[in-house]
Amino acid sequence: MGVAENLARVQERIRAACSRAGRDRDTVQLVAVSKGQPIEAVLLAFAAGQTVFGENYAQELHEKADALPEAEWHFIGALQTNKVKIVVGHSALVHTCDRASLANELSKRAEMKNIVQRVLLEVNVGREPQKGGALPEQVDALHAAVREMERLRCDGLMCIPPPEQDPRPHFRALREMRDRLGLRELSMGMTADFEAAIEEGATIVRIGTAIFGERPRR
Ligand SMILES: Cc1ncc(COP(=O)(O)O)c(C=O)c1O
Repeated sequence: MGVAENLARVQERIRAACSRAGRDRDTVQLVAVSKGQPIEAVLLAFAAGQTVFGENYAQELHEKADALPEAEWHFIGALQTNKVKIVVGHSALVHTCDRASLANELSKRAEMKNIVQRVLLEVNVGREPQKGGALPEQVDALHAAVREMERLRCDGLMCIPPPEQDPRPHFRALREMRDRLGLRELSMGMTADFEAAIEEGATIVRIGTAIFGERPRR
């Protein structure tokens, strides 16, 4: 199956999940995760109507965003402070702001480029030691710090639940945090669990494999 057919199937599944959840289709944004995929695959998806893409590596994001500036690019990977300068200015939304030092650097670079950078706070909902994300009890303080930064706009929360667990309790916990903080966006749900995420309130789903197939090895 080609990218356009895969995309149409994913769109249909999103529509069905929205309908089951009693939600409007346009309350869920699809980010096509193109990490590791050649630009040709991205162009096929773009030609089929997909306009928003997610990348995990700063340099790859930069190159693809330069090749296809008409698309909207999101940064969804673990972000090192020294890569922030590559990401700011190329990403409409950074999903993975997870610590105050990173927020500070994002803010500094946004100021240098005279822009406001939209961010989500990544939460390590499964408390996995090897994973990025603020721990749930750190989120209030991080949110308070980011709110003080004029060059950042915090739009919501993002999570990647532990792979071997039922994702729903984690999705629910993220939604409760989002509601408590009065934020709008919930970036959650990937190929394996995006329908559950939509039923639990996701406003952004990040889908790679179901659209592009398995990622080529790096
Ligand atoms: C943060 C993040 N979200 C979503 C995805 C897409 O995952 P999948 O290919 O399972 O849809 C990836 C893949 O690497 C990812 O790192």
